[in-house]
Parts: sequence; C-alpha cells; structure tokens
Amino acid sequence: MKGKHIIVVGLASLMALSLAGCGGGGSPTPSGNGGGDLATSDVNIGSVVYKFDDTFMSSMRDAMTAQATSVGAKLDIQDGQNDQSKENDIVNNFVTQGVNVLAINPVKADIIDPVLKSAQDAKLPIVFFNKQPSDAVMNSYDKAYYVGAKAEDSGTMMGQMLADYFQQNPTADKNGDGKIQFVMLTGEINHQDAVARSLYSQKVLQDAGLIDNFDINSWTQSSPPTDCMLANQSANWDTAAATDLMNNWITSIGLDKIEAVIANNDDMGLGAIAALQSAGYNKTGSKGDPTKYIPVVSVDATDKGKAALADGSLLGTVLNDAVNQGKAVVNLSIAAAQGNVTDATVGYPVTDGKFVWIPYVKVQS
Ligand code: GAL
Ligand code: CA
Repeated sequence: MKGKHIIVVGLASLMALSLAGCGGGGSPTPSGNGGGDLATSDVNIGSVVYKFDDTFMSSMRDAMTAQATSVGAKLDIQDGQNDQSKENDIVNNFVTQGVNVLAINPVKADIIDPVLKSAQDAKLPIVFFNKQPSDAVMNSYDKAYYVGAKAEDSGTMMGQMLADYFQQNPTADKNGDGKIQFVMLTGEINHQDAVARSLYSQKVLQDAGLIDNFDINSWTQSSPPTDCMLANQSANWDTAAATDLMNNWITSIGLDKIEAVIANNDDMGLGAIAALQSAGYNKTGSKGDPTKYIPVVSVDATDKGKAALADGSLLGTVLNDAVNQGKAVVNLSIAAAQGNVTDATVGYPVTDGKFVWIPYVKVQS
C-alpha cells in the first residue's frame, strides 16, 4: 500500500519535472497561478511536524489528515524529531519527490531559512504553521504563508481567568498583600507562544493591580523572578519536566507561599497538578480552599486538559484550536498549490494575503 503510494508520487514528480522542462528551462511558473489546472485530488502536500511526541501537534496532525482525506488531497506528514537539520533533509526529499506544496511546522523558526530556500528554488508554495517565522522570512517569498493563533490572546485569557478567581476568592491571596505570588512554567525558549503567553498573562495581572514590578518591555523567558513571580523556568511544553520543576518549587518556596501557577500549555499545567496532588492539593472538591488548592491556568484545551477542568484540578485553559488550524493548513496548502489563495478557497479569512489566524477561546468548564 505504502510502496504503491510512493511509486505514484514518484511518477507524478517525473511528469511534473518534464512538464516544467518543456515550459522553458526553469522559468518561473506564471505568477498567481502556479498550479494551473491542478485538481485537488492531484495535490500532493509534503508536511513535517517539528516532533510527533507533542500532544497538541498530534491533534493538529489528526486534523490535517482528516481534512486531506475529506477533500481527497494527498498528504504525507513526517516527524522532524525536534532536529532542524533532519527537517531540512525531509523537505529536500519532498522537493525531489515532486510534491506540489510544503506544509511546515518549523523545529526552530529562527533558523528556517534553508527550508525557505529549498521551497523558493523549487518555486513551491510553503505554508508554515504553529511556529511563526520572522517577518523578514515571510516577506522574502510571495508564496510563503502562515497558519496560527494570536499568541498574546492566549496569555491575556490566562491572566483574566486568574484575576477573576482572585476577585471571587479573596482568601486565595494567602499572605493578604493584595497581590498574586505565582510560579511560571514556560514553553520552548523563544517560541512565540511561550513568550507571548508569559508576557500577556502578566500584563493583565499588572493592569488589574494584582502583580507589580513587571515590565513588558524588558521581561524575557530567562528574566530572574520578581516580587510576585516566585520562579520562572522552561519545561519545554513537557509534563514530566513540569512535575519535576513544580516539586522543586514546592520544596524550595513552599505551598503556603505559592498562590498560583501559570503554565504555557496544558501538558505543563497537568505536570504541575501532578506535583500538587502528590502534596495533597488540587483534589476534587478543594477549589476555593487556599490550604488545599492552588489555581493553575494553561493553554490548549487538550482532552487531558478538559478532563482536569472537569475534575476541578485545573482552574482554566484556552482552546488552541487544532481542528481549525489543521483544516486551514490543508485548505491553504491546496489553494496555494492551485495558485488561487482567497478567503473563499481557503475557507478562512486570509490576512495580508499570507496569514490565517484561528482565534483562541477561554475554556473554564
Ligand atoms: C503550542 C502549544 C504547545 C506545543 C507547541 C509546539 O502552540 O500550545 O502545547 O504544542 O505549540 O510548538
Ligand atoms: Ca498574595
């Protein structure tokens, strides 16, 4: 089955190459119509996800596969194994195989230039997703696109959920200083989501008067903790790493001092909850009791995240909409391969001819 698929792809690629040859020695395909009359069932999308072992990205893969199946396009998703050079090689193989479009979740968005160059040399459209390349990269190629979510909104929503909890539960301010003393679990260093979720959750709390000494212009993921931020470290989106960090903080800071946990994603929020539960906190029914419950907020609304909301261990999460992002990646890839990117062909609003933004949504029950 798999072998056949590869052979078919191989023939298609040879045909594509020979057609390109007839078209006049590598001259660019007509602009705005790179795909000519390419039928959707002939569109072959070569995709790489930065690593398969990531809960949210697994949901995106499922959504992409479902959409490609439903519209009848071919989609091959490969594992970048968290290694940018591996991802570069996979992309080059896709180009050799003759795919019509690339759909790429960068391993490192800041060193994605070789991938962009491969796409550009082969005159292939490229749809980046989840890790946003710089404006310079996006603007350097008219066939570069991006599908994602506005990271600052997820940070704002986490901050709002926490602020609401403190307003409704004044005893959650355990030392009675009118501020929230919190610990923060951040995602991958320099990932736009990790940075913005950390920044904007704090900005909301600062604006609400619930933390102080936070400066949005100077804070970075490696900034030392401030008065209200008791600790801040990357657990790389990972549950086990977050449990380890939280256990350390429970020991070094103390459960009586920690008033909240801000985690850049559900997997890390759940890791913190595991540590809290081992210490007798955040069990079902303990919400509102400051001696038994510390509010935890995070992002993604994965199945496990929603289960934690349901059992009361997680205060709130933010839907990072894998279904619509996955669908948008596939639709945009097809539209780009066919040289016809519009709101109507993509099925989502396309901003500046390049970006599809899928909104975040607060989830509290
Ligand atoms: C984020 C998501 C994280 C992780 C990351 C990978 O958007 O919230 O859970 O999947 O992407 O780049
Ligand atoms: Ca306090």
